[in-house]
Amino acid sequence: MPFQRRAFFICNQHGPTFVLISVHVTFPSWGLYFYHRLFNNCFMTHPLSLYRMGHFNAAHQLAISTWSMEKNLETFGKCANPNFHGHNYEVEVRVTGHVDPETGILINLKDLKAIIEREVEDRFDHKNLNLDCPEFKHKVPTVENICVVIYDILRPFIPAELDLGIKLYETPRNYAEYPARII
Ligand code: NI
Repeated sequence: MPFQRRAFFICNQHGPTFVLISVHVTFPSWGLYFYHRLFNNCFMTHPLSLYRMGHFNAAHQLAISTWSMEKNLETFGKCANPNFHGHNYEVEVRVTGHVDPETGILINLKDLKAIIEREVEDRFDHKNLNLDCPEFKHKVPTVENICVVIYDILRPFIPAELDLGIKLYETPRNYAEYPARII
């Protein structure tokens, strides 16, 4: 027996604006299987996050050159040590979006791995962030600033329709996340 259903289509192919299209569709009785296939394709719209970890070791000093050593030590603590010190940075790269229903892929992990290696690890690993990296020539290499710099470096390499988030661990207990999750 033929049956009628209201079908919603969410179109998000043209940037962040979602267009909801509602149509009445009449299915023949033998179309029940195809209706459920269509339903699943149209309603499985929850985004998914894929994560890839990166790692680099780097040295830094947190100080503002025009400040006195006392003021720098008071503000930045041990990280103001003039002879530099190192951290083992762990970077978590989050990519969020909709999985391609045909391939089951959000973003190719092989590509994401290569981008992180080339743009983050090769750039910062075993470097002195203050002396070797132009990104921090006029910016104090705090965990906050490094996190934002990594985001800005990676953003152009991630497809525009996918959301990007960076979490940077300076120690297992100190980390920054950018952009912040505003709840
Ligand atoms: Ni430090």
